Amino acid sequence: MTTSSAPGKIILFGEHAVVYGRPALAVPVTQVHADVEVLDSPRAGIWIEAPDVNLHAEVNSLPSDHPLAAVINKFYAPLSSPHFRFLKMGGQRGIEIKITSTIPVASGLGSGAAVSVALTRALSSHLNHPMTDEELNAFVYEIEKIHHGTPSGIDNTVVTYAKPVYFVKGQPIEMLKVGHPFTIVIADTGISAPTKESVGDVRRLWMNNKSYWETIFDKVGIISFTARRAIEAGKPALSNVEAWEVLGELMNENHTLLQEMTVSSPKLDELVNAALRAGALGAKLSGGGRGGNMIALAQDDQAGAIARSLKEAGAKNTIITQVA
Ligand code: PMV
Repeated sequence: MTTSSAPGKIILFGEHAVVYGRPALAVPVTQVHADVEVLDSPRAGIWIEAPDVNLHAEVNSLPSDHPLAAVINKFYAPLSSPHFRFLKMGGQRGIEIKITSTIPVASGLGSGAAVSVALTRALSSHLNHPMTDEELNAFVYEIEKIHHGTPSGIDNTVVTYAKPVYFVKGQPIEMLKVGHPFTIVIADTGISAPTKESVGDVRRLWMNNKSYWETIFDKVGIISFTARRAIEAGKPALSNVEAWEVLGELMNENHTLLQEMTVSSPKLDELVNAALRAGALGAKLSGGGRGGNMIALAQDDQAGAIARSLKEAGAKNTIITQVA
């Protein structure tokens, strides 16, 4: 049996503008993860069991654009050895794939990318066709394109490498070196919102007035750039200017720009305000927006109180995570 696990992720700064070439910062969230087991089976075919979504099926019985079938079909496509063809055609020996995930779907925590990464990694090592992280990242980016239209590639990158990243579309991956750990509270609105729709709506805004929206994306890019410097310097180096207050203020500014892009929602704004009232240093929506998650920057000793306030304000779930 071969197993693989991939973490969730959260975007700290720069979502949406990242689709237009501006930098964004994202970090893995190891409290939630997707897990895959692959084992040989005497039963012919490629069987998928995904109890979280109530699925137990042979891959050929699924529509070709089904997210799991898409990964498996893409994986097998270039493999022309008789063994793989045999499996794919339903030969005598097959494989069983079990997929479980604790990452909420369509909520900005990268569930799709995590399932694709864990599934591809498990399949590739089980079938003695190991992939480097670079190959895996490129493979999963192609899968993300099927589901999200014009993704920047940030989700597959942070999930594949499982490290904080400073991401610019189409450029070599830069890891984010965290100068001093800091704490983030993540709260789920409980509203699932497809990223494809909010990305499409921002694209329509941009198409109607490119020069205006390019200016907005520039502002977001400067926020991500400045946030990187604050994170890499860390608190001790910047104690006089209170680096975390700077970082919190950058989050608030980024949220205002996301509101302008029309990707916030009343519930997201309510949770952002609740976090600030409870003492967060800054807060913003995270990911595609409209629903999904928001994040708040917390002083370590206040994270619990902020999480409680977010629950009282209607958050479905909260996660306290340290970025280190
Ligand atoms: O909703 P998420 O967490 O998958 O994030 C999407 C981030 C966007 O910038 C909105 C889209 C993208 O492809 O980068």
